[in-house]
Amino acid sequence: MNDLSKISGLTRAAGISALHEGYMPGFGNDFETEALPGALPDGMNSPQRCAYGLYGEQLSGTAFTAPSHQNERTWCYRIRPAVKHVGRFSKIDLPYWQSAPNVDPDVISLGQYRWDPVPHAQESLTWLTGMRTMTTAGDVYTQVGMASHIYLVTASMQDEYFYSADSELLVVPQEGRLRFCTELGVIDLEPKEIAILPRGLVYRVELIDGPARGFVCENYGQKFDLPGRGPIGANCMANRRDFKTPVAAFEERETRSRVVIKWQGQFHETWIGHSPLDVVAWHGNYAPVKYDLRTYCPVGAVLFDHPDPSIFTVLTAPSGVEGTANIDFVLFRERWMVAENTFRPPWYHKNVMSELMGNIYGEYDAKPQGFVPGGMSLHNMMLPHGPDNEAFEKASFGELKPGKLDNTMSFMFETRFPQHLTRFAAQEAPLQDDYIDCWDSLKKRFDGTPEGNWD
Ligand SMILES: [Fe+2]
Repeated sequence: MNDLSKISGLTRAAGISALHEGYMPGFGNDFETEALPGALPDGMNSPQRCAYGLYGEQLSGTAFTAPSHQNERTWCYRIRPAVKHVGRFSKIDLPYWQSAPNVDPDVISLGQYRWDPVPHAQESLTWLTGMRTMTTAGDVYTQVGMASHIYLVTASMQDEYFYSADSELLVVPQEGRLRFCTELGVIDLEPKEIAILPRGLVYRVELIDGPARGFVCENYGQKFDLPGRGPIGANCMANRRDFKTPVAAFEERETRSRVVIKWQGQFHETWIGHSPLDVVAWHGNYAPVKYDLRTYCPVGAVLFDHPDPSIFTVLTAPSGVEGTANIDFVLFRERWMVAENTFRPPWYHKNVMSELMGNIYGEYDAKPQGFVPGGMSLHNMMLPHGPDNEAFEKASFGELKPGKLDNTMSFMFETRFPQHLTRFAAQEAPLQDDYIDCWDSLKKRFDGTPEGNWD
């Protein structure tokens, strides 16, 4: 599985051995991978002495007693146990990375909002200093809800590592490539792909080339899973084989290093004398994963009407209330529109869930203008929304022949919790003050006749 001819540049730069590039296919599989032969124990987890003098350690992603079909844990065989990767903690301030509850009395979250892309700053920003929280929802203390962020990264983390005890992170790049060097392997990520970084996983983020910008959904609640397909059956939407988990890779780097931990909405630093990315081999089902959105197989209307957008769900994180997600990650990508006698764009809508959208590239069918790549919009709980006048007229008067929606990829983080704007989102980010004007020119077409006034 490991291609030994492909020792990564990261390995050579670190002057160490056995960082292998490569991925294993599947979602939630029980994987096993080793960067050195024989590093994994055979048929057991805790031998009296591990091979290579490694320490055995379990990373528990669910409670020990979680039902077996949800139980997730990974056994790591590492140079030092993780307790050697932390010391005493000091609190640090990352003022732009906010957690719920975050209700600013000077900010009005009730409204339909849209933003232009947040531009890169002049200063050098890493994954940690470049995270800009846009909205928060729920409560990080009780592990429900989420936050949405924009990341603006212009610098790699140097001898610096991070993990979030609060959340798993769903990363949606929009511009530029990133390398996530994690305890369990290396993920290279580019636009049109997504990655999930599990709660508690230590990693460092490097720039591969130019500046990087994208979106993050920070999930405080239960992990993302694939949605049930119901009558759709065993195929289509996101298929398990298209998810990729990295093979084992480790660093043996004895340099002074900073570890930053997000815990209960607060940030802490601790200093150690080595890299914590020292897992030589691991087995289990709690691991980072990436997915190419171009492999998402959309299913939709083939005769009439427009299904609910849940038909485009890629991942869902449950809330404990059946069918009511803590977060759904929904993808609007290229597809054919064929419905007869049908208003084809998303219909007008008022929703108990709150909907945060981002544009990865191209043009979104309900908003041909203004919702641009890198931009975001928020249609909060019970706030009506729908196509703007241009989209309405085009859809109402257009010839209903089969048509391809091309060059389009947008997504939605949809949550059962109302989303609160941060002060950054309300006052510093490029908010479009005129967004709600997009519905101004919708006409009254009711004139008392069954035909209506379509002039
Ligand atoms: Fe909606």
